[in-house]
Amino acid sequence: MEMEKLVSLCKRRGFLFQSSEIYGGLNGFWDYGPLGVELKRNVKEAWWRDMVSGHDDLSVLPGAPDSYEMTGLDCTIIMHPQVWKCSGHYDLFADMMQSCRQCKKLFRADHVWGLMRETEWANAIAETLASNFDAEQIEVDAEKLAKWAKDRKGGRRLAPGLALVRHPENTLASLQQSLAEMKADSFPVLLQHLATEDKKTSGLLTPCPECGGDLTEPREFNLMFETIVGALKDESNKAFLRPETAQGIFVNFKNVLDSTRVKIPFGIAQVGKSFRNEITPRNFTFRSREFEQMEIEFFCHPDSSQSWYKYWRDRRMQWYQDLGLAGERLILREHDPDELSHYSTGTADIEYAFPFLPAGEYGELEGIAHRGDFDLRSHMEGKLDEKSDPLVVQLDEHGKPKYRGSGKDLTYRDELTNERYIPHVIEPSAGADRATLAFLCEAYREDSAPDDKGNLQTRTVMSLHPRLAPVKAAVFPLVKKDGMPEVAKDIYRALKPKFSVSYDEKGAVGRRYRRQDEAGTPFCITVDGDSLIDRTVTIRDRDTLEQTRVRIDDIESEIENRIQS
Ligand code: GAP
Repeated sequence: MEMEKLVSLCKRRGFLFQSSEIYGGLNGFWDYGPLGVELKRNVKEAWWRDMVSGHDDLSVLPGAPDSYEMTGLDCTIIMHPQVWKCSGHYDLFADMMQSCRQCKKLFRADHVWGLMRETEWANAIAETLASNFDAEQIEVDAEKLAKWAKDRKGGRRLAPGLALVRHPENTLASLQQSLAEMKADSFPVLLQHLATEDKKTSGLLTPCPECGGDLTEPREFNLMFETIVGALKDESNKAFLRPETAQGIFVNFKNVLDSTRVKIPFGIAQVGKSFRNEITPRNFTFRSREFEQMEIEFFCHPDSSQSWYKYWRDRRMQWYQDLGLAGERLILREHDPDELSHYSTGTADIEYAFPFLPAGEYGELEGIAHRGDFDLRSHMEGKLDEKSDPLVVQLDEHGKPKYRGSGKDLTYRDELTNERYIPHVIEPSAGADRATLAFLCEAYREDSAPDDKGNLQTRTVMSLHPRLAPVKAAVFPLVKKDGMPEVAKDIYRALKPKFSVSYDEKGAVGRRYRRQDEAGTPFCITVDGDSLIDRTVTIRDRDTLEQTRVRIDDIESEIENRIQS
């Protein structure tokens, strides 16, 4: 599937719009349109229902070492700044960033070479190289290449800031050296080679993917958005928009224990907005600056934590599969030991092969992490004692705790055994927008279906799982006369309080079906001449195109059953 087709359908049919589009948009921010808002709500509701409200804490689910309880929270976006100091975000939540000395644009250091391969100018230069220069003869052609790069029609127009264009004489020697080994059609690879391997000799810096200018050395850039709470704009009133929902759960751990009867093992869930000032937001909603997370912090005894880690990893993978991401495009990837955070004894990512990624690459949908007692301990410890882990409590240059924890007791006492301990945490942390995007990508397909005259026509179908589909059913009168609209409207009104349904009587019925196919509506209910005689209708299945006759009185239960199956 080509991503452009999906992006265009999302705009045309009202799934997603660029934020503030009439003012030129704001990079990294997206609005959900009339269909998109329903789809994303359904994703979040399916998650909440399956993980939290529908969870039966009396039974042991397959794979679970024990029965457990689930409960929820809805915390504020702005929290006490100390939360982010103790969580580590204040000091450590940073990306390495490079900026262009010429066009001033910012880039994530680890994205620069990936972006370079997609740039118009690098590809145009690569194309020109491939058609004008002989790969075999490239060594002798280096001087010609430098001339071309300086030429108005060549490099100067495409990438005026590129070192090769500005100072061909400086780069000539290293080019002559490297070109012999490189192919002319891999220009970005050649640049990477010159900038990294030969930097010392060639003096070539990493070129800016935007204009070819020189990038600065990488430096740290904290991703938290800052704001001011109150009227005084000074340091003491500085606060942050949360970069994750998880911390709201940790700091309320004691409140939940004290206000409910939950016993370990139990989980607290939260769905809500998070904000990250991403340096290079990209790939539609995949990396945005404002997005929603669906997070669970599952608290358990340290001895059973490995079993719970495996349980949550497998349960979360199954959830995506049950909702339609069941294929080779979805993978579960265990982190290698050298990828793990210092406090984690296991982390797995659920990843999806998004169509905007190069073949063989996957993008993260969700991370499931065994976080040990890191978070509760960090928010608890106000002083350093012999038990404090220096990796957990951040120390200043004098070996004293850098930030004071809350000093509150966040331990748990088992009423049966009287054992007191800091619970271990398993964290399944999912992105609602990334999940929604993956469901959209998976759903998009083109096939053929007969039109009103029986001729096969190409149709675009969003094969969303019925639980996720924005509109569950559309009701049509076959024609706009003979009492059919009246019956159809009665059916529409009867279904509306139960499901999201739409009514359409305009145009040929084939066209109406195709509009619903694009919106992902799984069922179309058509009232025809027979409906007036025997009070039956046809229900057309979006995916199989099968039409079944159903009694009007049974429509609701029929749709209900089909959504759940
Ligand atoms: N509490 C752990 C945590 O926040 P994370 O891997 O940074 O972990 C969890 O984020 C999930 O949130 C990711 O797997 C992804 O689905 C989503 N997410 C993170 N950054 C995002 C962004 N900039 N845009 C959209 N979704 C994002």
